[in-house]
Amino acid sequence: MTSLLHLDSGAHRSGESVSRALTALFADAWRARHGSTGYRYRDLAAEPVPPLDTAFCALGRRVEREGMVPPDRVAALAGDPAEKETWAVTRPLITELLAADTVLIGTPMYNFSIPAALKAWIDRVSFPGAFVDPVSGDSLLRDTRVVVITPRGGAYGPGTPGEGWDFHTPYLRAYFARHGVAAENIHVVTAEMTLAELAPHLAHLRPLAEDSRAAATAAVISLATERSASGTSISTERSASGTSISTERSASGTSGGRPGDGETDRVDGARRADLVEWS
Ligand SMILES: Cc1cc2nc3c(=O)[nH]c(=O)nc-3n(C[C@H](O)[C@H](O)[C@H](O)COP(=O)(O)O)c2cc1C
Repeated sequence: MTSLLHLDSGAHRSGESVSRALTALFADAWRARHGSTGYRYRDLAAEPVPPLDTAFCALGRRVEREGMVPPDRVAALAGDPAEKETWAVTRPLITELLAADTVLIGTPMYNFSIPAALKAWIDRVSFPGAFVDPVSGDSLLRDTRVVVITPRGGAYGPGTPGEGWDFHTPYLRAYFARHGVAAENIHVVTAEMTLAELAPHLAHLRPLAEDSRAAATAAVISLATERSASGTSISTERSASGTSISTERSASGTSGGRPGDGETDRVDGARRADLVEWS
């Protein structure tokens, strides 16, 4: 049975949230194709994963001292009630992640990086040895597909004022790749310039935001209805305004490459130096 773990991490939980609208679209399309049995949802903003504590670190250090300890044996190493409790919180999150064929993550850019709610989940599930096959030593995430959906108020493509300031998608790519997710199974969908939809002084950039959102929507539907990238690409050119938006999915994968490689829906600012800077 195929399975989807759907995580939302944006603090804004109203119907205006771009990340939540796009992840919901993905989930709906996925369920239409695969049914609901393998679907699992976790709202990391509504039900935050507790931040790490001394007990988590102490248990982790004990496991590190033992060498490779599979999750099944960690409980036996828990030394006191606090360690047992922190493992009781952590273990189901790891199990849930490992059970997923596809992990869908809604993660707006916050201060050039990921929301704290998502970081708390990452810190928890990255317990020592959690992703390592105890027999073969291979990554248990080697066949996992990760789809990251990330709206942002500004633009971070080549030539924009934000170029070089995206510490969000390079971090997530590096994190999942380091834990064994295959490069071709990491997909990033960005919807840029979402602030333009709100701010009057950015009204002239709304067409860019709309195009980016439309391209993101198309990419989400495509990713939700296919098992993996097939090397196709979609591009939209708006010659009248001199802007371009490209949607690309690389068959050879993108992780480990330049930040921005293979990402969808980036606003290309090479010809538009007037794109908004965040804050
Ligand atoms: C706390 C906070 C920090 C933000 N930081 C950035 C930022 O560094 N760069 C940026 O481009 N947009 C930033 N934004 C804008 C959001 O990325 C943008 O509004 C996005 O659409 C939010 O996702 P949502 O619509 O799912 O809530 C920030 C928004 C918030 C609330």
